[in-house]
Amino acid sequence: MKFFLDTADLNEIEEAASWGALAGVTTNPTLYARIGGKLSDFHAHIKRICALVDGPVSAESVAMTRDEIIRDGRELAALAPNVVVKIPTMVEGLAATHALAKEGIAVNMTLCFTVPQAIMAARAGARYISPFVGRFDDISEDGIGQLEDVVIAINNYDFTQNTVRGEQIEIIAASIRSANHVTQAALMGADIATIPFDVLKKMVSHPLTDRGLESFMKDWEKVQNA
Ligand code: E4P
Repeated sequence: MKFFLDTADLNEIEEAASWGALAGVTTNPTLYARIGGKLSDFHAHIKRICALVDGPVSAESVAMTRDEIIRDGRELAALAPNVVVKIPTMVEGLAATHALAKEGIAVNMTLCFTVPQAIMAARAGARYISPFVGRFDDISEDGIGQLEDVVIAINNYDFTQNTVRGEQIEIIAASIRSANHVTQAALMGADIATIPFDVLKKMVSHPLTDRGLESFMKDWEKVQNA
């Protein structure tokens, strides 16, 4: 499983990249607003992220019609070779994804919740599909179960003829809220998890690790004083 960071924060990206496990970044309008991002700086900011990350960086179109999304997508894709255009799973988004994929532009279809949506995205030519987990949990539904259905359904078929350059479509487990979500997504074989920085940090820690470290330190003190 590969890990993407779900953020627009450059410090978080730099820090996570230094840990050696960062394979990409996903952003969205909310994450950009959260860092106080301005419209006039959006493209420059995406370029800054792309320069920091050795892997795909999803930049989302906020347009609502296919022509506008296509225009947005072309502009975003021209910012850096590792930009992936993020497009919501809706009719206009599917049409734009199909057109952009035919031009060789990689698309991540986001706000995907169901198996039919995922298959439509795959057929349209999406390079990545992002089923959301946490938002299902937020409405007391089984986000992990929904993700598993998407993983099974997509892996039942060969979509390589639909994607840019015949690459294998990859599923990004999105809207991740906990390390346990990551465990479940890995066990079912989701290709990627896109993870908020605080969750990524929690993934490294365990109380038994802390306890073990504490006792090693105490014993080492004994060795030094012996
Ligand atoms: C990623 O691509 C999504 O935009 C993100 O994971 C959404 O997460 P949220 O439900 O925590 O906003």
